[in-house]
Amino acid sequence: MLKVGIDIGGTKIAGGVVDSDGAIIEKLRVDTPTDTRALADAVVDMAHHLSSGHPVAAVGVAAAGFIDKDRATVIHAPNIAWHDEPLRAILEARIDVPVTIENDANAAGWAEFRFGAGRGVDDMVMLTMGTGVGGAIISANELFRGGHGIAAELGHLRFIRDGHPCGCGQNGCLEQYASGRALQREANDIADSGGIGAALAALREEKGVLHGPAISRLILADDPGAVEALRRVATALGEACGGFQAVLDPELFVIGGGVAQLGEVLLEPVRIAYETSLPGYGERPIAEFAIAQLGNDAGLIGAADLAVADAAEIVAGR
Ligand code: BGC
Ligand code: NA
Ligand code: ZN
Repeated sequence: MLKVGIDIGGTKIAGGVVDSDGAIIEKLRVDTPTDTRALADAVVDMAHHLSSGHPVAAVGVAAAGFIDKDRATVIHAPNIAWHDEPLRAILEARIDVPVTIENDANAAGWAEFRFGAGRGVDDMVMLTMGTGVGGAIISANELFRGGHGIAAELGHLRFIRDGHPCGCGQNGCLEQYASGRALQREANDIADSGGIGAALAALREEKGVLHGPAISRLILADDPGAVEALRRVATALGEACGGFQAVLDPELFVIGGGVAQLGEVLLEPVRIAYETSLPGYGERPIAEFAIAQLGNDAGLIGAADLAVADAAEIVAGR
């Protein structure tokens, strides 16, 4: 069965026609409009475009926010201007096949579990390090949704008391310390404070605010300031994973999102912080860490795979 998956990211909307093996048959990408109405138009256009050439049974949409149990409404979105947005109804009014909304990180985690780094594992946790920090929990081969559909908002674990304010209305959330944005903030702070940040400071002088790609290049070139910025962010993530291990005991952590393109350079300090903070370390089984294998496509593949052709299935699945 073919389905369309569409992943609404902070900067890009990625869509594709996906088969039952998670393979992408056709793919499209556009910039994400900031206005929520233009955003819905872009998703509808993409769905029409992709389904025009293929017999598509359903559309799955991955969105960066808290999705309700019916997989219809974005209840809250820390980084997008949605408030109780009835996204499924808005899209279904203009798309001929059933539409399912899924949390973006849940979709990515599900795709990695089915077709990527998590194949063969029963219990895994996915963390995405992008604009925010997203989470997905696969427990006993199932996506864990919690009592209201909003489980696995792992980026909004309160990490630092009285810490940085967060888009969710709280402060000190993991997202403020372990996201791509946090890496950017740390790198700019290090650049501004001089010392080890000489190369960062020079670049900041030249370019103004330092962005992800420039920071990544310096990290891979072993620049001490950039490496320190990464260490801080990786340490926050790894420490939180020690806590997630205590609660969920996964066999595997899969790390995705833009920052995960750094690969082993990221995983090494994550593992160190994880081991340092893990209860019972040395006397208990520990989890493996892997970089996501499906890259930017994970969200759309997972959204397509989780899309239901018959909305009654969601109700029946309760
Ligand atoms: C949102 C999540 C989302 C994550 C990654 C967080 O701020 O609360 O719903 O999965 O960002 O986009
Ligand atoms: Na999630
Ligand atoms: Zn938060």
